[in-house]
Amino acid sequence: KRPPASVLFIFGGSGDLNYRKLSPALYNLFLDDWMPEQFAIVGIGRSPYTNEAYSEHLLDGIKKFSRRKGEQNGHWTDFSQHVSFLQMDAENVDSYEAIADIVKGREQEWGKHPNVIFYLAVAPQLVPAIATKLGKLNLCSDTHSTRIVIEKPFGHDLQSAHELNALLGRMFSEEQIFRIDHYLGKETVQNLLALRFANALFEPVWNRNFIEYIQITAAESVGLEGRGGYYERSGALRDMVQNHILQLLCMVAMEAPVSFDANEIRNKKVDVLNAIRPISRDKVHDYAVRGQYAGGWKKGERVLGYREEKGVTPGSNTETYAAVKFYIDNWRWQGVPIYVRTGKFLNQKTTQINLQFRQAPHYAFPSESAETWRPNRMTISIQPEMDIRIRFQAKRPGQTMTLDPVEMVFNYDTAYGEHAPEAYETLLLDVMEGDATLFMRADQVEAAWKVIMPILEAWENRVPQDFPNYAPDSWGPNDADALIAQDGHSWINLS
Ligand code: BG6
Repeated sequence: KRPPASVLFIFGGSGDLNYRKLSPALYNLFLDDWMPEQFAIVGIGRSPYTNEAYSEHLLDGIKKFSRRKGEQNGHWTDFSQHVSFLQMDAENVDSYEAIADIVKGREQEWGKHPNVIFYLAVAPQLVPAIATKLGKLNLCSDTHSTRIVIEKPFGHDLQSAHELNALLGRMFSEEQIFRIDHYLGKETVQNLLALRFANALFEPVWNRNFIEYIQITAAESVGLEGRGGYYERSGALRDMVQNHILQLLCMVAMEAPVSFDANEIRNKKVDVLNAIRPISRDKVHDYAVRGQYAGGWKKGERVLGYREEKGVTPGSNTETYAAVKFYIDNWRWQGVPIYVRTGKFLNQKTTQINLQFRQAPHYAFPSESAETWRPNRMTISIQPEMDIRIRFQAKRPGQTMTLDPVEMVFNYDTAYGEHAPEAYETLLLDVMEGDATLFMRADQVEAAWKVIMPILEAWENRVPQDFPNYAPDSWGPNDADALIAQDGHSWINLS
Protein backbone atom coordinates (compact mmCIF):
# COMPACT_ATOMS: atom_id res chain seq x y z
CA LYS A 1 0.00 0.00 0.00
CA ARG A 2 1.36 3.36 -1.00
CA PRO A 3 1.68 6.12 1.58
CA PRO A 4 -0.79 9.01 1.56
CA ALA A 5 -0.29 12.15 -0.56
CA SER A 6 2.85 13.94 0.62
CA VAL A 7 4.78 17.14 0.14
CA LEU A 8 8.45 16.75 1.08
CA PHE A 9 10.51 19.83 1.73
CA ILE A 10 14.22 19.16 1.78
CA PHE A 11 16.26 21.84 3.52
CA GLY A 12 19.78 21.49 2.18
CA GLY A 13 18.21 20.65 -1.15
CA SER A 14 21.37 21.52 -3.07
CA GLY A 15 23.61 19.74 -0.55
CA ASP A 16 25.55 16.55 -0.59
CA LEU A 17 23.22 14.32 1.41
CA ASN A 18 20.32 15.01 -0.90
CA TYR A 19 22.50 14.56 -3.97
CA ARG A 20 24.02 11.26 -2.90
CA LYS A 21 21.37 9.64 -0.75
CA LEU A 22 17.91 11.22 -0.50
CA SER A 23 17.13 11.83 -4.17
CA PRO A 24 18.40 8.43 -5.30
CA ALA A 25 16.32 6.87 -2.52
CA LEU A 26 13.15 8.75 -3.47
CA TYR A 27 13.67 7.91 -7.11
CA ASN A 28 14.12 4.21 -6.34
CA LEU A 29 10.92 4.27 -4.30
CA PHE A 30 9.24 5.79 -7.33
CA LEU A 31 10.61 3.06 -9.62
CA ASP A 32 9.31 0.43 -7.20
CA ASP A 33 5.85 2.06 -7.03
CA TRP A 34 6.25 2.99 -3.38
CA MET A 35 5.84 6.75 -3.77
CA PRO A 36 2.38 8.16 -3.02
CA GLU A 37 -0.02 8.61 -5.96
CA GLN A 38 0.28 12.32 -5.30
CA PHE A 39 3.56 13.76 -4.14
CA ALA A 40 5.79 16.78 -4.48
CA ILE A 41 9.46 17.12 -3.61
CA VAL A 42 10.66 20.63 -2.99
CA GLY A 43 14.38 21.21 -2.61
CA ILE A 44 15.14 24.28 -0.52
CA GLY A 45 18.41 26.17 -0.67
CA ARG A 46 20.14 29.44 -1.40
CA SER A 47 21.50 28.50 -4.82
CA PRO A 48 19.66 30.05 -7.77
CA TYR A 49 18.39 26.88 -9.45
CA THR A 50 15.56 26.83 -11.94
CA ASN A 51 13.35 23.77 -11.54
CA GLU A 52 14.89 22.27 -14.69
CA ALA A 53 18.47 22.90 -13.61
CA TYR A 54 17.67 21.47 -10.19
CA SER A 55 16.22 18.28 -11.53
CA GLU A 56 19.24 17.93 -13.87
CA HIS A 57 21.46 18.26 -10.81
CA LEU A 58 19.56 15.52 -9.00
CA LEU A 59 19.65 13.26 -12.04
CA ASP A 60 23.40 13.65 -12.09
CA GLY A 61 23.57 12.46 -8.47
CA ILE A 62 21.30 9.52 -9.26
CA LYS A 63 23.50 8.47 -12.16
CA LYS A 64 26.48 8.45 -9.83
CA PHE A 65 25.06 7.10 -6.60
CA SER A 66 21.83 5.21 -7.13
CA ARG A 67 21.98 1.43 -6.73
CA ARG A 68 20.08 1.33 -10.04
CA LYS A 69 22.14 3.75 -12.08
CA GLY A 70 21.01 2.36 -15.42
CA GLU A 71 17.26 2.85 -15.04
CA GLN A 72 16.47 6.43 -15.94
CA ASN A 73 14.71 6.13 -19.30
CA GLY A 74 11.20 7.55 -19.39
CA HIS A 75 10.72 7.20 -15.65
CA TRP A 76 12.95 10.12 -14.84
CA THR A 77 10.78 12.45 -16.92
CA ASP A 78 7.72 11.32 -14.93
CA PHE A 79 9.53 11.63 -11.62
CA SER A 80 10.98 15.06 -12.34
CA GLN A 81 7.46 16.47 -12.85
CA HIS A 82 7.14 16.16 -9.08
CA VAL A 83 10.38 17.98 -8.29
CA SER A 84 10.85 21.70 -7.83
CA PHE A 85 13.28 24.07 -6.17
CA LEU A 86 12.52 26.84 -3.74
CA GLN A 87 15.26 29.39 -3.40
CA MET A 88 15.00 30.89 0.03
CA ASP A 89 16.96 32.19 2.93
CA ALA A 90 16.26 29.79 5.75
CA GLU A 91 17.35 32.46 8.25
CA ASN A 92 14.55 34.78 7.23
CA VAL A 93 11.24 34.03 8.88
CA ASP A 94 9.18 35.73 6.16
CA SER A 95 10.39 33.37 3.50
CA TYR A 96 8.62 30.50 5.29
CA GLU A 97 5.30 31.77 4.02
CA ALA A 98 6.33 30.41 0.61
CA ILE A 99 6.27 26.95 2.17
CA ALA A 100 2.75 27.36 3.46
CA ASP A 101 1.69 28.61 -0.02
CA ILE A 102 3.11 25.56 -1.73
CA VAL A 103 1.22 23.27 0.63
CA LYS A 104 -2.01 25.22 0.06
CA GLY A 105 -1.50 24.93 -3.70
CA ARG A 106 -1.16 21.15 -3.51
CA GLU A 107 -4.08 20.84 -1.19
CA GLN A 108 -6.29 22.58 -3.71
CA GLU A 109 -4.92 20.66 -6.65
CA TRP A 110 -5.24 17.25 -4.96
CA GLY A 111 -8.44 17.98 -3.10
CA LYS A 112 -7.04 16.67 0.20
CA HIS A 113 -4.72 17.70 2.95
CA PRO A 114 -1.35 16.03 2.34
CA ASN A 115 1.37 14.89 4.70
CA VAL A 116 3.89 17.66 5.04
CA ILE A 117 7.43 16.51 5.70
CA PHE A 118 10.34 18.78 6.52
CA TYR A 119 13.64 17.04 6.03
CA LEU A 120 16.52 18.97 7.59
CA ALA A 121 19.53 17.82 5.58
CA VAL A 122 21.56 20.75 6.82
CA ALA A 123 24.56 21.46 9.03
CA PRO A 124 23.62 20.77 12.67
CA GLN A 125 24.12 24.37 13.74
CA LEU A 126 21.26 25.42 11.42
CA VAL A 127 18.74 22.97 12.84
CA PRO A 128 17.50 25.02 15.83
CA ALA A 129 16.92 28.15 13.75
CA ILE A 130 15.05 26.34 10.98
CA ALA A 131 12.98 24.25 13.38
CA THR A 132 12.01 27.37 15.33
CA LYS A 133 10.81 29.15 12.21
CA LEU A 134 8.94 26.11 10.98
CA GLY A 135 7.31 25.86 14.37
CA LYS A 136 5.67 29.23 13.76
CA LEU A 137 3.78 27.88 10.75
CA ASN A 138 0.24 26.76 11.47
CA LEU A 139 1.04 23.63 9.56
CA CYS A 140 3.17 22.33 12.39
CA SER A 141 0.35 22.18 14.87
CA ASP A 142 -1.09 19.35 12.80
CA THR A 143 0.51 16.55 14.78
CA HIS A 144 -1.03 13.91 12.59
CA SER A 145 0.32 14.84 9.16
CA THR A 146 3.20 17.27 9.61
CA ARG A 147 6.59 15.70 10.41
CA ILE A 148 10.13 16.89 10.83
CA VAL A 149 13.13 14.72 10.04
CA ILE A 150 16.42 15.46 11.78
CA GLU A 151 19.70 14.05 10.57
CA LYS A 152 22.58 13.14 12.79
CA PRO A 153 24.56 14.45 14.55
CA PHE A 154 21.78 15.04 17.05
CA GLY A 155 23.59 17.39 19.41
CA HIS A 156 27.27 17.57 20.17
CA ASP A 157 27.07 16.13 23.66
CA LEU A 158 24.44 15.19 26.23
CA GLN A 159 23.70 18.78 27.18
CA SER A 160 23.21 20.05 23.62
CA ALA A 161 21.16 16.99 22.65
CA HIS A 162 18.94 17.64 25.65
CA GLU A 163 18.54 21.28 24.67
CA LEU A 164 17.73 20.35 21.08
CA ASN A 165 15.11 17.86 22.27
CA ALA A 166 13.60 20.54 24.48
CA LEU A 167 13.54 23.06 21.64
CA LEU A 168 11.91 20.62 19.22
CA GLY A 169 9.50 19.55 21.93
CA ARG A 170 8.20 23.10 22.25
CA MET A 171 7.03 23.09 18.63
CA PHE A 172 6.43 19.49 17.69
CA SER A 173 5.04 16.51 19.51
CA GLU A 174 7.32 13.50 19.79
CA GLU A 175 5.33 11.55 17.18
CA GLN A 176 6.13 14.27 14.62
CA ILE A 177 9.89 14.09 15.16
CA PHE A 178 11.86 11.56 13.14
CA ARG A 179 15.50 11.38 14.22
CA ILE A 180 17.36 9.42 11.61
CA ASP A 181 20.03 6.87 12.23
CA HIS A 182 20.48 5.42 8.78
CA TYR A 183 21.99 2.18 10.11
CA LEU A 184 18.55 1.22 11.38
CA GLY A 185 17.25 1.28 7.83
CA LYS A 186 19.76 -1.26 6.57
CA GLU A 187 18.18 -4.58 5.62
CA THR A 188 20.73 -6.61 7.54
CA VAL A 189 20.15 -4.53 10.66
CA GLN A 190 16.39 -4.94 10.49
CA ASN A 191 16.98 -8.64 10.01
CA LEU A 192 18.51 -8.83 13.48
CA LEU A 193 15.00 -8.66 14.86
CA ALA A 194 13.84 -11.48 12.60
CA LEU A 195 16.89 -13.58 13.37
CA ARG A 196 16.49 -13.22 17.10
CA PHE A 197 12.76 -13.11 17.60
CA ALA A 198 11.22 -15.16 14.79
CA ASN A 199 13.30 -18.26 15.54
CA ALA A 200 13.23 -20.60 18.49
CA LEU A 201 16.75 -21.81 17.85
CA PHE A 202 18.93 -18.86 18.77
CA GLU A 203 17.25 -17.01 21.60
CA PRO A 204 17.79 -19.75 24.25
CA VAL A 205 21.57 -19.45 23.78
CA TRP A 206 21.62 -15.68 23.32
CA ASN A 207 22.87 -14.82 26.78
CA ARG A 208 25.75 -14.92 29.25
CA ASN A 209 25.44 -18.66 29.77
CA PHE A 210 26.49 -19.40 26.23
CA ILE A 211 28.11 -16.27 24.83
CA GLU A 212 31.61 -15.44 25.92
CA TYR A 213 31.92 -12.06 24.24
CA ILE A 214 30.53 -9.95 21.44
CA GLN A 215 32.39 -7.81 18.91
CA ILE A 216 30.94 -5.09 16.76
CA THR A 217 33.16 -3.70 14.04
CA ALA A 218 32.27 -0.82 11.73
CA ALA A 219 35.46 -0.43 9.75
CA GLU A 220 35.72 2.04 6.91
CA SER A 221 38.33 2.01 4.21
CA VAL A 222 37.51 5.58 3.18
CA GLY A 223 38.97 8.65 4.84
CA LEU A 224 37.29 12.00 5.29
CA GLU A 225 35.89 12.35 1.77
CA GLY A 226 36.11 16.13 1.95
CA ARG A 227 34.24 16.39 5.26
CA GLY A 228 37.20 17.64 7.31
CA GLY A 229 35.32 20.68 8.61
CA TYR A 230 32.57 18.53 10.10
CA TYR A 231 34.73 15.63 11.23
CA GLU A 232 37.26 17.76 13.03
CA ARG A 233 34.56 18.79 15.50
CA SER A 234 33.16 15.33 15.72
CA GLY A 235 35.61 12.43 15.74
CA ALA A 236 34.90 8.72 15.56
CA LEU A 237 33.16 8.44 18.91
CA ARG A 238 30.54 11.05 18.05
CA ASP A 239 30.36 10.21 14.36
CA MET A 240 29.86 6.45 14.64
CA VAL A 241 29.74 5.11 18.21
CA GLN A 242 27.15 7.39 19.82
CA ASN A 243 24.66 6.52 17.12
CA HIS A 244 25.24 3.67 14.66
CA ILE A 245 27.28 1.34 16.84
CA LEU A 246 25.21 1.78 19.97
CA GLN A 247 22.11 1.12 17.90
CA LEU A 248 23.61 -2.11 16.61
CA LEU A 249 24.45 -3.02 20.17
CA CYS A 250 20.84 -2.40 21.20
CA MET A 251 19.53 -4.64 18.43
CA VAL A 252 21.87 -7.43 19.49
CA ALA A 253 21.31 -7.10 23.21
CA MET A 254 17.66 -6.05 23.64
CA GLU A 255 15.03 -8.22 25.26
CA ALA A 256 12.25 -9.73 23.12
CA PRO A 257 9.56 -7.19 22.25
CA VAL A 258 5.96 -8.12 22.91
CA SER A 259 4.78 -6.62 19.62
CA PHE A 260 6.14 -4.83 16.60
CA ASP A 261 4.99 -1.51 17.92
CA ALA A 262 7.28 1.53 17.57
CA ASN A 263 7.30 2.37 21.24
CA GLU A 264 7.55 -1.21 22.40
CA ILE A 265 10.69 -1.75 20.31
CA ARG A 266 12.19 1.56 21.33
CA ASN A 267 11.48 0.84 24.99
CA LYS A 268 13.35 -2.42 24.76
CA LYS A 269 16.28 -0.70 23.09
CA VAL A 270 16.50 2.13 25.55
CA ASP A 271 16.58 -0.44 28.35
CA VAL A 272 19.87 -1.68 26.93
CA LEU A 273 21.39 1.80 26.84
CA ASN A 274 20.30 2.41 30.41
CA ALA A 275 21.88 -0.85 31.51
CA ILE A 276 25.30 -0.16 30.01
CA ARG A 277 27.78 0.05 32.86
CA PRO A 278 28.94 3.65 33.29
CA ILE A 279 32.66 4.02 32.70
CA SER A 280 34.20 6.19 35.36
CA ARG A 281 36.30 9.00 33.96
CA ASP A 282 39.52 7.94 35.63
CA LYS A 283 39.12 4.39 34.26
CA VAL A 284 38.50 5.35 30.65
CA HIS A 285 41.93 4.14 29.53
CA ASP A 286 41.01 0.61 30.65
CA TYR A 287 37.91 0.62 28.49
CA ALA A 288 38.55 2.84 25.48
CA VAL A 289 41.28 3.43 22.93
CA ARG A 290 41.51 6.21 20.39
CA GLY A 291 43.55 6.52 17.24
CA GLN A 292 44.35 8.90 14.45
CA TYR A 293 45.66 7.88 11.06
CA ALA A 294 49.05 8.94 9.76
CA GLY A 295 49.92 9.61 6.15
CA GLY A 296 51.21 6.72 4.11
CA TRP A 297 50.26 4.21 1.49
CA LYS A 298 46.84 2.83 0.91
CA LYS A 299 46.26 0.20 -1.76
CA GLY A 300 49.31 1.48 -3.66
CA GLU A 301 48.32 5.14 -3.40
CA ARG A 302 49.93 7.83 -1.30
CA VAL A 303 47.44 9.37 1.14
CA LEU A 304 47.61 12.33 3.50
CA GLY A 305 47.61 11.91 7.24
CA TYR A 306 44.55 13.18 9.11
CA ARG A 307 46.36 16.26 10.34
CA GLU A 308 47.17 17.28 6.76
CA GLU A 309 43.58 17.02 5.52
CA LYS A 310 41.61 20.08 4.49
CA GLY A 311 39.57 21.55 7.34
CA VAL A 312 41.72 19.88 9.99
CA THR A 313 44.04 21.78 12.33
CA PRO A 314 47.68 20.68 11.99
CA GLY A 315 48.01 19.58 15.63
CA SER A 316 44.52 18.09 15.77
CA ASN A 317 43.65 15.65 18.56
CA THR A 318 40.45 14.45 16.93
CA GLU A 319 40.23 10.67 16.87
CA THR A 320 39.59 8.87 13.59
CA TYR A 321 39.46 5.51 15.37
CA ALA A 322 37.74 4.42 18.55
CA ALA A 323 37.49 1.08 20.32
CA VAL A 324 35.48 0.61 23.51
CA LYS A 325 34.70 -2.26 25.83
CA PHE A 326 31.20 -2.14 27.26
CA TYR A 327 29.39 -4.26 29.82
CA ILE A 328 25.65 -4.47 30.15
CA ASP A 329 24.58 -4.81 33.74
CA ASN A 330 21.46 -6.91 33.48
CA TRP A 331 20.41 -10.49 33.99
CA ARG A 332 21.07 -11.57 30.40
CA TRP A 333 24.48 -10.01 29.81
CA GLN A 334 26.20 -9.75 33.16
CA GLY A 335 29.97 -10.19 32.71
CA VAL A 336 29.94 -10.50 28.90
CA PRO A 337 32.33 -7.98 27.36
CA ILE A 338 31.11 -6.21 24.25
CA TYR A 339 33.98 -4.86 22.20
CA VAL A 340 33.16 -2.25 19.59
CA ARG A 341 35.45 -0.43 17.19
CA THR A 342 35.29 1.88 14.22
CA GLY A 343 37.75 3.87 12.20
CA LYS A 344 38.59 5.63 8.97
CA PHE A 345 41.22 4.44 6.52
CA LEU A 346 41.23 0.93 7.90
CA ASN A 347 42.22 -2.13 5.97
CA GLN A 348 38.70 -2.99 4.84
CA LYS A 349 35.19 -1.67 4.67
CA THR A 350 33.18 -4.05 6.76
CA THR A 351 30.46 -3.83 9.37
CA GLN A 352 30.19 -7.03 11.31
CA ILE A 353 28.81 -8.41 14.51
CA ASN A 354 30.46 -11.46 16.02
CA LEU A 355 29.02 -13.51 18.85
CA GLN A 356 31.65 -15.78 20.28
CA PHE A 357 30.14 -18.74 22.12
CA ARG A 358 31.76 -20.45 25.04
CA GLN A 359 33.91 -23.48 24.39
CA ALA A 360 32.03 -26.79 24.61
CA PRO A 361 32.50 -28.06 28.17
CA HIS A 362 34.38 -31.26 27.43
CA TYR A 363 36.45 -32.58 24.56
CA ALA A 364 35.90 -36.30 24.09
CA PHE A 365 37.76 -36.70 20.80
CA PRO A 366 41.31 -37.94 20.16
CA SER A 367 43.67 -35.34 21.54
CA GLU A 368 45.50 -34.87 18.18
CA SER A 369 42.37 -33.27 16.80
CA ALA A 370 42.05 -30.76 19.63
CA GLU A 371 44.31 -28.28 17.86
CA THR A 372 41.60 -27.25 15.45
CA TRP A 373 38.90 -27.20 18.11
CA ARG A 374 37.27 -23.78 17.97
CA PRO A 375 34.30 -22.40 19.87
CA ASN A 376 31.13 -21.73 17.96
CA ARG A 377 30.78 -18.30 16.49
CA MET A 378 28.02 -16.45 14.75
CA THR A 379 29.13 -13.75 12.35
CA ILE A 380 26.52 -11.33 11.12
CA SER A 381 27.83 -9.29 8.21
CA ILE A 382 25.91 -6.08 7.87
CA GLN A 383 27.79 -4.67 4.87
CA PRO A 384 29.13 -4.77 2.23
CA GLU A 385 28.79 -8.56 2.44
CA MET A 386 25.33 -9.43 3.62
CA ASP A 387 25.33 -12.79 5.29
CA ILE A 388 25.12 -14.73 8.53
CA ARG A 389 27.64 -17.46 9.26
CA ILE A 390 27.63 -20.01 12.02
CA ARG A 391 30.88 -21.75 12.74
CA PHE A 392 30.80 -25.22 14.18
CA GLN A 393 32.98 -28.33 14.31
CA ALA A 394 32.60 -31.10 11.75
CA LYS A 395 34.35 -34.39 11.16
CA ARG A 396 36.73 -34.26 8.25
CA PRO A 397 35.89 -37.23 5.94
CA GLY A 398 38.42 -40.04 6.32
CA GLN A 399 39.44 -42.87 8.58
CA THR A 400 40.55 -40.70 11.48
CA MET A 401 38.44 -38.67 13.85
CA THR A 402 39.77 -35.32 12.77
CA LEU A 403 37.65 -32.26 13.38
CA ASP A 404 37.55 -28.96 11.49
CA PRO A 405 35.67 -25.74 12.01
CA VAL A 406 33.17 -25.31 9.15
CA GLU A 407 30.44 -22.78 8.40
CA MET A 408 26.74 -22.74 7.76
CA VAL A 409 25.97 -19.69 5.67
CA PHE A 410 22.88 -17.66 4.89
CA ASN A 411 23.73 -15.23 2.11
CA TYR A 412 21.37 -12.58 0.80
CA ASP A 413 22.56 -12.84 -2.79
CA THR A 414 22.08 -16.56 -3.05
CA ALA A 415 18.87 -16.61 -1.00
CA TYR A 416 17.14 -13.61 -2.58
CA GLY A 417 19.25 -12.65 -5.57
CA GLU A 418 17.86 -9.16 -5.77
CA HIS A 419 19.16 -5.84 -4.61
CA ALA A 420 17.97 -4.92 -1.16
CA PRO A 421 16.58 -1.40 -0.80
CA GLU A 422 18.99 1.14 0.59
CA ALA A 423 18.57 2.36 4.14
CA TYR A 424 17.30 5.78 3.05
CA GLU A 425 14.60 4.20 0.89
CA THR A 426 13.20 2.31 3.84
CA LEU A 427 13.46 5.28 6.18
CA LEU A 428 11.91 7.81 3.80
CA LEU A 429 9.02 5.46 3.16
CA ASP A 430 8.57 5.05 6.91
CA VAL A 431 8.46 8.82 7.36
CA MET A 432 5.77 9.12 4.70
CA GLU A 433 3.84 6.35 6.39
CA GLY A 434 4.36 7.83 9.84
CA ASP A 435 6.07 4.73 11.22
CA ALA A 436 8.71 5.70 13.78
CA THR A 437 9.89 2.19 14.71
CA LEU A 438 13.28 2.65 13.06
CA PHE A 439 13.83 6.18 14.35
CA MET A 440 15.40 7.44 17.51
CA ARG A 441 13.20 8.67 20.31
CA ALA A 442 14.33 11.64 22.41
CA ASP A 443 15.22 9.52 25.43
CA GLN A 444 17.20 7.04 23.29
CA VAL A 445 19.41 9.75 21.88
CA GLU A 446 20.10 11.16 25.30
CA ALA A 447 20.74 7.74 26.82
CA ALA A 448 23.28 7.08 24.06
CA TRP A 449 25.06 10.36 24.76
CA LYS A 450 25.12 9.51 28.44
CA VAL A 451 26.96 6.29 27.67
CA ILE A 452 29.80 7.98 25.82
CA MET A 453 30.09 11.21 27.81
CA PRO A 454 32.76 9.98 30.27
CA ILE A 455 34.94 8.88 27.36
CA LEU A 456 34.44 12.14 25.50
CA GLU A 457 35.28 14.14 28.60
CA ALA A 458 38.33 12.10 29.48
CA TRP A 459 39.66 12.37 25.94
CA GLU A 460 39.02 16.09 25.76
CA ASN A 461 40.93 16.62 28.97
CA ARG A 462 43.94 14.53 28.09
CA VAL A 463 46.05 15.32 25.07
CA PRO A 464 46.99 12.10 23.29
CA GLN A 465 50.77 11.73 23.26
CA ASP A 466 51.03 9.31 20.39
CA PHE A 467 48.90 10.79 17.58
CA PRO A 468 49.04 9.89 14.74
CA ASN A 469 49.20 6.29 15.88
CA TYR A 470 48.03 4.06 13.05
CA ALA A 471 48.92 3.61 9.43
CA PRO A 472 46.36 3.79 6.65
CA ASP A 473 45.32 0.33 5.51
CA SER A 474 45.97 -1.16 8.96
CA TRP A 475 43.46 -2.34 11.57
CA GLY A 476 44.04 0.65 13.82
CA PRO A 477 46.37 1.40 16.72
CA ASN A 478 48.24 -1.32 18.64
CA ASP A 479 46.57 -0.21 21.84
CA ALA A 480 43.27 -1.51 20.49
CA ASP A 481 44.78 -4.98 20.30
CA ALA A 482 46.04 -4.59 23.85
CA LEU A 483 42.57 -3.52 25.05
CA ILE A 484 41.06 -6.82 24.03
CA ALA A 485 44.17 -8.93 24.70
CA GLN A 486 43.99 -8.06 28.40
CA ASP A 487 40.89 -10.28 28.51
CA GLY A 488 42.64 -13.02 26.55
CA HIS A 489 40.80 -12.30 23.29
CA SER A 490 41.65 -10.79 19.92
CA TRP A 491 39.81 -8.85 17.25
CA ILE A 492 38.19 -10.90 14.57
CA ASN A 493 39.48 -9.53 11.28
CA LEU A 494 38.63 -10.56 7.79
CA SER A 495 41.75 -11.98 6.23
C1 BG6 B 1 27.83 8.52 8.66
C2 BG6 B 1 29.12 9.11 9.13
O1 BG6 B 1 26.83 8.67 9.60
O2 BG6 B 1 28.03 7.13 8.40
C3 BG6 B 1 30.24 8.88 8.13
O3 BG6 B 1 28.96 10.50 9.35
C4 BG6 B 1 30.34 7.42 7.79
O4 BG6 B 1 31.47 9.38 8.60
C5 BG6 B 1 28.99 6.86 7.41
O5 BG6 B 1 31.25 7.29 6.71
C6 BG6 B 1 29.05 5.37 7.24
O6 BG6 B 1 27.85 4.92 6.69
P1 BG6 B 1 27.81 3.59 5.85
O7 BG6 B 1 26.35 3.40 5.58
O8 BG6 B 1 28.63 3.82 4.62
O9 BG6 B 1 28.40 2.54 6.71
